[in-house]
Amino acid sequence: ATERRSLIMLFGATGDLATRKLYPAMLKLYEKGNIRDHFAVIGSSRYKFDDAKFREMVMKSVDKESSNKKLIADFASHFYFVTHDVTDLAHYAVLKDKAAELDKKYKLGGNRVFYISMAPNFFGTVAKNLKNQNLLSTNGFNRLVIEKPFGRDFESAKALNDELSNAFEENQIFRIDHYLGKEMIQNIEAIRFGNTIFEALWNNRYIDNIQVTLAENLGVEERAGYYDNSGALRDMVQNHIMQIVSLLAMEQPVAFKDTDIRAEKVKALRSLRVYNVAEASTNFVRGQYGSVGNTKDYRHEDGVPEDSNTETFVAGKLLFDNYRWSGTPFYIRTGKKLADKFTRVDVVFKKPLVDIFAFPQNGNAPLNANVLTIFIEPNQGFSLVVNAKNSEQGFHTEPVNLQFIEDSKRTKSTPQPYERLIHDVLKGDGTNFASWPEVANAWKFVDQIRRVWDIQQPMFPNYIPGSMGPVSADELLARDHREWVYKL
Ligand code: BG6
Repeated sequence: ATERRSLIMLFGATGDLATRKLYPAMLKLYEKGNIRDHFAVIGSSRYKFDDAKFREMVMKSVDKESSNKKLIADFASHFYFVTHDVTDLAHYAVLKDKAAELDKKYKLGGNRVFYISMAPNFFGTVAKNLKNQNLLSTNGFNRLVIEKPFGRDFESAKALNDELSNAFEENQIFRIDHYLGKEMIQNIEAIRFGNTIFEALWNNRYIDNIQVTLAENLGVEERAGYYDNSGALRDMVQNHIMQIVSLLAMEQPVAFKDTDIRAEKVKALRSLRVYNVAEASTNFVRGQYGSVGNTKDYRHEDGVPEDSNTETFVAGKLLFDNYRWSGTPFYIRTGKKLADKFTRVDVVFKKPLVDIFAFPQNGNAPLNANVLTIFIEPNQGFSLVVNAKNSEQGFHTEPVNLQFIEDSKRTKSTPQPYERLIHDVLKGDGTNFASWPEVANAWKFVDQIRRVWDIQQPMFPNYIPGSMGPVSADELLARDHREWVYKL
C-alpha cells in the first residue's frame, strides 16, 4: 500500500456516523498501511472531551475490527480533540493552531481533508469559516467531504452548493454517496465495459426493461426526526438510485477516470425525461407501511406524527430520451419494512423475435426472456437466465440459470464503502462521488414527483410489512404488460 499523508479535520467527531463507520474504516486503512505514520485526525464537536477521552471513544468504536490491541492503541494516538461550536470564530483559531502543530509533528505535507459529518444546515457556515479564518492550507491539498442530505430540492441544493463553492472548487468537493463505495455497484462498469456479450446488446434494441430494487426489511428505527421530513424519494431515489441508474444508462466513458465517467453520467441524467404533472402521477407510486399482528405501523413509530403522509416506499418508471434507450423503461423501487434486505439490478432482454419452438407446432411453452441479474447485497454476484433444451424425450425448452455468487469469505474481506471512499479522498479520486451537475439533475427530476405528491392526499397506510410494497407498484408494470423479476 502507498501511504497517503494528510490531516483529517472531522466535524461531528462524536456523532453516530463517525463511531459506526468512519473510525472503523480508518482503522482498516491504517492496518493496511494506506495511512500510517503521517496522518492525524482532529476531531471536533460540542462535547467537552480531551484527547484521552476522545481516543477512548475511538478505540471503543474500532474494538470489533481487530484483536490487535497495540495496533488499535497506536492508531488512536493519532487522534486529537478540539471542542468546537461551528459559529464561534475563536474556535477556528484553535483548530488552525492545532492543525499547524500536527502538520509539523507528523510531516503531513500541508495536506488537509475537511470532513463535515453534521447536519447539512452547518455545511455552509463551516466551509465559509474554514476559508475566512485561513484554515485552508497553502502548500498541500484541501479537500472537503460532505454527507447527504445535499439539499431537499433543487433550489436548496443550489444555495448550499453556492455557499460551498465560495470556499472550495468543484474538484475539491467530495459528496459521499455510500452506494458508490459498494463493490457490486463499482462492478456495473466492469460487467458492461469488460464484456462484449453485454455491452453490444446494452440498448433499446435488445433490452426490454431494466429493474433496480433497493429493499430494506427494517422500518424507520430511531431516525424518525430525519426520515419523516425526507421520505423514501429524497432518502434513496434522489441519490443512491439515480447514481445506479446513471451507471447503467451512461455511454462508455472515454477513459476509466473520474472526469470522463462523471461526464457520461451527467449526459445520461440530462436525457432523463423530467415529467410533467400528468406523467409524474402515472409513472410514480408511493406507499407507507401499515402493521401486521402487533408491529407498529409507520404513523405509530416513535417521533412520527400520527397524520404523517411521508412515503416509506417508492416505485417509478424512468424514461431516457436518447438513441440508446428510447422505448426501454427503467423501473425502480425502494422501501422500508419490505420482505427482506437486498439490492439488485435485473436487466430483462427482449425475447427472440420469432419463437420457432412455440405452441402449437411443438407444444412448447413460450421462451423465457434472458435476464441478467446483478446481486449487489447481501450476495455479491451475477446470474444469467438462458433458454436451453431439457434433457427429456421430445423437444421442450426450459430456463437455465448461470450463476456466480462470490464466496462469503471473500465478500467479508472486501473493503466496506467508507474504507474505499476515504481512501479515494486521500488519493484525490472523485470517481465514486456525486458531482454537482449529477446532484442538480437528479433533484430536477425528483422535484417534479414531489410537486405532484405534495398536492395529492395519499391513501396511507397501503402496504403490509414483509410484502414487496403496495399493489400499485405491481400495477405500474402490469400496465406495460410487464412484471417485476423479483417477486414474493
Ligand atoms: C441511507 C438511508 O442513505 O441508506 C437509509 O438514509 C438507508 O434510510 C440506508 O437505510 C441503506 O444503506 P445500506 O448500505 O444499508 O443499503
